[in-house]
Amino acid sequence: MRSFVNEVKTLQTTAVEGHIFDSKHLDPLGRLLVQATLRQYFWFDALTNELLEKPLPKKHRDLHLLIMIGLCAIDTLNQPQHTSVNATVETAKRLNKRWASSLTNATLRRYLRDRSDIQSRVVDPVAIHNHPIWMLDQFRVDLPKHYPAVILANNHPGPMTLRVNILRQSRAAYLDRLDAAGLHAEPSNLSPQGLQFKSPVPISKLPGFEDGSVSIQDEGAQLAALLLDPQPGERILDACSAPGGKSCHLLELEPSITLVSTDIDPSRLERVRDNFDRLGVDGEINCLDLAQDQPQLGTFDKILLDVPCSASGVVRRHPDIKLLRRASDLNDLVEHQKRFLLSTWARLRPGGVLLYATCSIFSAENERVVSQFLEAHPDASILPLPEVGVPRTFGVQLLPTQNAHDGFYYARLIKAGTGS
Ligand SMILES: C[S@@+](CC[C@H](N)C(=O)[O-])C[C@H]1O[C@@H](n2cnc3c(N)ncnc32)[C@H](O)[C@@H]1O
Repeated sequence: MRSFVNEVKTLQTTAVEGHIFDSKHLDPLGRLLVQATLRQYFWFDALTNELLEKPLPKKHRDLHLLIMIGLCAIDTLNQPQHTSVNATVETAKRLNKRWASSLTNATLRRYLRDRSDIQSRVVDPVAIHNHPIWMLDQFRVDLPKHYPAVILANNHPGPMTLRVNILRQSRAAYLDRLDAAGLHAEPSNLSPQGLQFKSPVPISKLPGFEDGSVSIQDEGAQLAALLLDPQPGERILDACSAPGGKSCHLLELEPSITLVSTDIDPSRLERVRDNFDRLGVDGEINCLDLAQDQPQLGTFDKILLDVPCSASGVVRRHPDIKLLRRASDLNDLVEHQKRFLLSTWARLRPGGVLLYATCSIFSAENERVVSQFLEAHPDASILPLPEVGVPRTFGVQLLPTQNAHDGFYYARLIKAGTGS
């Protein structure tokens, strides 16, 4: 009989111990279930509080999480009710809390009986909107017109989007391969190499994935390489490159560039190498701290600076962010982002172009960083970008959109002078 033991332990590691979500002990259904529970954590937490007559002691937090998982299996994943209830009861036993099997059984059955009444008793906006209060407040300030749509998008899984490796075949040819495999995707709106599925497909079913025909990449993320627009023979730095999605896209678009791909994290850089090998592209890979100037790298025609950020634009794909990220992290992130911009600017040749990128939707990490940089650096000016997303004085802001792209920010800066 199925149990949710691994799901409870995984959720506990993130929600109680504060570690990044790791699916290594989960099967595909378990992974979906824990991700969905994290995405709607505040809602299922509040429902569980409503259902329990009194809160469970801290040492039984695993049982509280178990009930949340059971509710999510029934409500969000539409699993059969009786199997979900049985799996929940079985889990209580396997957690060596046999005494709690009648409690979990009664709790879930009461929910199935009085669902709408219990739901209507939850009134806390944090639970209803499923985000921590500081994020909701920040969205309201930064996105006064758009925050309801952003919240909605964040509370649903993002679509599965592919990037076709045009060194291997055209997008149209890959669409034909998908058709032949009985799979249907639509061309994406933002990227000429992008394809989007209506519902996710296991990677093992994607024709030619192992041979580098395609990669998984959101269409908003695909804009980075397109906006940097690599030209034959250019020397390009991808300053925070791992796991290499954007580096690979740059090389697929223009294999004659000299790409220097750097990151501070050696294990993540291994994934850049694996991606280069799988996709049949090549670049120089360096483990370096780019928050400091690295003069030995020389200068570049173009730089992609995809800085570490709050990731507030991709919470639907990494819902643990809603639990792990704190408002107090923002100041440090912004200070780092300013340092990255300063140090990489020194690596740009006169006349060169730097694309500043984040997967954040907070102004503090985006146009505020860019506008302050422009004020302080007379040799920097902003280049226009295609009209995508929400208009901004500096750069473009894509917001996470249901059934479409994630949230990204891009600003393209040019350095005064000419040179090669
Ligand atoms: C947003 S992710 C980059 C994603 C990547 N551009 C892609 O498309 O696959 C930010 C990266 O910055 C790296 N990073 C963090 N601090 C760094 C530093 N001081 N120097 C260089 N890279 C750093 C992280 O290891 C992480 O891989």
